[in-house]
Amino acid sequence: MDQDFAQPALFSPSLPYGQSLTFSLRIQGNEKDILDRISRGFPLHNNLLGIGEPLLRTGKAFVPGLSTFPSYSGPGFSIPSTQEALWVLVSGKDRTDVFDRTGEILSLLDRDFHLRDAMETFSYDGGKDLTGYVDGTENPPVQDRPSVALLSGERGLAGSSFVAVQRWEHDLVHFRSRPEEEQDRVIGRRKATNEEIPDAPVSAHIRRSDQESFSPPATMFRRSMPWARGDRQGLEFIAFARSLSAFDRILRRMAGLEDGIPDALFSFSRPLTGGYYWCPPVRQERLDFSWVDRNPART
Ligand code: HEM
Repeated sequence: MDQDFAQPALFSPSLPYGQSLTFSLRIQGNEKDILDRISRGFPLHNNLLGIGEPLLRTGKAFVPGLSTFPSYSGPGFSIPSTQEALWVLVSGKDRTDVFDRTGEILSLLDRDFHLRDAMETFSYDGGKDLTGYVDGTENPPVQDRPSVALLSGERGLAGSSFVAVQRWEHDLVHFRSRPEEEQDRVIGRRKATNEEIPDAPVSAHIRRSDQESFSPPATMFRRSMPWARGDRQGLEFIAFARSLSAFDRILRRMAGLEDGIPDALFSFSRPLTGGYYWCPPVRQERLDFSWVDRNPART
């Protein structure tokens, strides 16, 4: 079963605190040695790790389906790519737990990587976005998540997953200044009851992102978490899928690139970061990079 090889934190129940970290390569070391050091030392309990194209390219390696995050422009906004070499998500029961385990991971990676960005995340009001809307309602049911999120096939690929990580910053003062009826039409659901609005505008987020309206369906497993730092806040959007095209097709429609209609989310929120990563599978309780070792890039 592919699920037996997935990083355990991918499907484990959500914990209330987290930290999303991205790293660039410090020096151009030998990729195989770097991956060996990560595999030997990375603590899998409650932590997830993904590697980006910049790391694979040092060893001229290749994972089918992994690309660099694209940048797009929509009417009045841009969607940046801040692709890095490595992404780590730490989850924990409290901030002490997250802080201590982040420290462990920083020590492990310090030799080869430079920390580019760290953002603490937290669960807000039992799984809501900071706007007050429940986030994750249309996630696949638990039993379907492995088939939505995991690759199958050869050893070293089976059980791996792709992840899209995109930080959005909300203007909550502006959003809250709008009547609730109007807020509901931005999302396409009722804040008070979480009911879908049947005649929501085409710009409503749930209409832009309706997974079943794509062919084939653009299904993904979202595990986003809010963030707040001083007077800034938003959503660390995190979604796993067996193909990055699910994310890309939705993002392009959200940007209005299909039909000129941008997602109403852009009326109060903007993406600040964007990266695609491949989360390798696990063998004998270690990250398994054997597929990368066996598959140099095709030129
Ligand atoms: C400001 C950033 C975002 C916020 C606040 C947000 C919030 C929400 C909320 C409240 C829902 C409705 C409940 C649910 O089904 O989860 C939803 C649905 C969804 N969102 Fe987002 N979202 C954001 C960005 C994105 C992005 C960037 C994508 C993918 C490119 C995305 C993909 C989806 C999908 C696939 C659904 C379910 C749609 C369906 O099939 O009904 N969201 N989002």
